[in-house]
Amino acid sequence: MSEEITVALGADHGGFALKEEVKRYLREHAYQVLDCGAFSPEPTDYPPYGKKVAECVASGKAQKGVTICGTGIGMSIAVNRVPGIRAALCTDSFMARLARAHNDAQVLALGARVVGTGLALDILAAFLGTDFEGGRHDRRICQLDQAE
Ligand code: RB5
Repeated sequence: MSEEITVALGADHGGFALKEEVKRYLREHAYQVLDCGAFSPEPTDYPPYGKKVAECVASGKAQKGVTICGTGIGMSIAVNRVPGIRAALCTDSFMARLARAHNDAQVLALGARVVGTGLALDILAAFLGTDFEGGRHDRRICQLDQAE
């Protein structure tokens, strides 16, 4: 299953190093990676990278996205501005599982200054390994879409 999934990645300087770790993990686990930058740890702004990742998912170029900044907050706000795209800022794997199972989040936001690499990869594995449950949650996602 994983070889058919493309994951778009985006980070600012605060998330650059963790993005590189996430990229390595994804490739080792046979995911396709679409790196939207940043491509260096030089200081930069997070909104354009969040937007790029969200647009990759919205257009179908990627099925999932991971965005990383210092806290994950700015990136999650940026991604959630794109219609139809749901980003979830997760600090543990329980949140990541429910972000998928209940919220059908397509984009995981991580805070590189909040979680270490080991925890981040654990969160990522939970996110990618959980399917949307549908049912009553589908109705709620429809309500979110209608509110846009
Ligand atoms: C950059 O210093 C920092 O503000 C950014 O990475 C992020 O945490 C914003 O939400």
